[in-house]
Amino acid sequence: MELAEKTVADWYASHPISAPHILTKLKNLRGSLEGLTPQDLYPYDQDHYDGLEANARLADKAHMNAGDSVLDVCAGLCGPARWYVSERGVQVTGVDISPNRVDGAQELNTLVGLQDQIHPVLASAMDLPFDDEQFDAAVSQESFLHVPDKPKALHEVFRVLRPGGRFAFTDWVMHTPLPNDEMEQYRQRFACHSLLSIPEYESKLQQAGFEIISSDDITGPWGDILARRLSMYQTLDAEAERAGNPSKGDEFLKMYAKFVGDVQQHRIGGVRLTAEKPQ
Ligand SMILES: C[S@@+](CC[C@H](N)C(=O)[O-])C[C@H]1O[C@@H](n2cnc3c(N)ncnc32)[C@H](O)[C@@H]1O
Repeated sequence: MELAEKTVADWYASHPISAPHILTKLKNLRGSLEGLTPQDLYPYDQDHYDGLEANARLADKAHMNAGDSVLDVCAGLCGPARWYVSERGVQVTGVDISPNRVDGAQELNTLVGLQDQIHPVLASAMDLPFDDEQFDAAVSQESFLHVPDKPKALHEVFRVLRPGGRFAFTDWVMHTPLPNDEMEQYRQRFACHSLLSIPEYESKLQQAGFEIISSDDITGPWGDILARRLSMYQTLDAEAERAGNPSKGDEFLKMYAKFVGDVQQHRIGGVRLTAEKPQ
């Protein structure tokens, strides 16, 4: 594991969205974890913007069909994976670099009886432990911001997709180059390694061999979504601390408020890209 990836794994070890916190919350709400379904987890296990609607959009863009073998790159706790399996009838392999995420994913998958349809794998997006042309489709959400060598990761996704397979993903982008001290704050507080602009992303995908199908600047909608997410984090962080689960504290919340401002001012933003491996 590269040093930058170790930083990411350490960062996710104290994230407000965690398996222990989700399970504490559900136990308090329901009295027990008996008979838990994937749907019970949906309000708590999606670590990306715009919840289940974002999953539905990516599933459509990636042309996911029932029975497909799908790769989720940087799958986290496999919240989206449980949705793709339950709602679209696919099988998912979820790669993630953080042991805490992979273990948490396995625990949640087993609790809801999806351990045979979802395979969490501890690995780097830059070095996928899979054969060439193994997957029908690939997805990723708000994760490549952490990945040090994005061209390498894009080449890896291209390699493991079958010809005609699609990679649909969302990520942070940079609209205006940020001064070094601000970028350093993003590195330290969010383990954000580096950001590309939308044209840079498109050209890196093409260099990896992909054909671009669509490229949507989603910065506008993210401005509102992120403001709501900030208040969710304020609640979650306080709850996690009260329950004795890992939390991030005030510095993270202050930085999140800066992030929301930067998105609302269009300095940083989001992109949804769909790319296809030619036949
Ligand atoms: C914002 S979370 C997204 C999780 C998931 N996609 C979701 O929507 O719920 C980003 C994830 O990327 C993972 N990650 C970051 N860098 C990675 C890398 N180089 N290789 C694999 N996973 C990585 C982190 O461990 C984290 O779980």
